[in-house]
Amino acid sequence: MGRIIAIANQKGGVGKTTTAINLSACLAEAGQRVLAIDMDPQGNLTSGFGLEKGNIDNTVYELIMGDCTFDECVQKQAVENLDVLPSDADLAGAEIELIDVEQKEKQLKKCLEPVSGQYDFIVIDCPPSISLLTLNSMTAADSVIIPIQCEYYALEGLTQILKTVSLVQKQMNPSLKIEGIVFTMYDSRTNLSAEVVVNVRENLKEKIYKTQIPRNVRLAEAPSYGMPITLYDSRSSGAESYRMLAAEVMES
Ligand SMILES: Nc1ncnc2c1ncn2[C@@H]1O[C@H](COP(=O)(O)OP(=O)(O)OP(=O)(O)O)[C@@H](O)[C@H]1O
Ligand SMILES: [Mg+2]
Repeated sequence: MGRIIAIANQKGGVGKTTTAINLSACLAEAGQRVLAIDMDPQGNLTSGFGLEKGNIDNTVYELIMGDCTFDECVQKQAVENLDVLPSDADLAGAEIELIDVEQKEKQLKKCLEPVSGQYDFIVIDCPPSISLLTLNSMTAADSVIIPIQCEYYALEGLTQILKTVSLVQKQMNPSLKIEGIVFTMYDSRTNLSAEVVVNVRENLKEKIYKTQIPRNVRLAEAPSYGMPITLYDSRSSGAESYRMLAAEVMES
């Protein structure tokens, strides 16, 4: 069975998608069979892997609404060893259309059960909200990785996402674990990044990855070329740091 990891934080712009894309790509580069799932109607993971939103017949929306099969939805080998379940703006509609469906938070889990054995890792990119899409992701997942940006309000946002995880553990998925917390956009030139890391470490008992993802312009540029960092600039500090994160994830 593949390990299913949701990348979640209700706070916007903290590096969820960047982490989902590049952690997936680094796991795939290390020879793991990976499925990356775009659960965000923004579709940033989809375009980040070079898939053209608006030009895809079957997305995660059709899949979780039961309108297509997994095989009809999956984009095989977006990069070597890595398949993608793509999304576009249609997925926003699922939020409303699923309201009357029984076990509405279990739709993704049901879709993944028959295929998870084909993969070593399944990585889910969540939207920046505690929506039904996030709940579906956390219900399907074995664990959650929480990216947090090294900025002043980091700890506040973190408290909220930890509450959400414990709610999901109580009501939907008792075996959900916190895989770990990863600091993103770390800026070694400022004291603030270092202070945030110390503050979070002092206040949390959860696992915090040794790897910190630096602020690196190559990571920000890569999606506009439709490539993960491993292909766009394999020697950049961004690529090296996501490789180290992937190694930590594989070890644990
Ligand atoms: N380590 C980094 N170095 C430089 N830029 C980064 C880094 N990580 C993310 N970014 C940039 O910051 C912005 C937000 O990142 P990203 O889209 O990954 O966040 P997100 O949490 O998925 O956002 P949303 O909540 O909107 O889904 C993007 O423009 C991205 O390119
Ligand atoms: Mg995102």
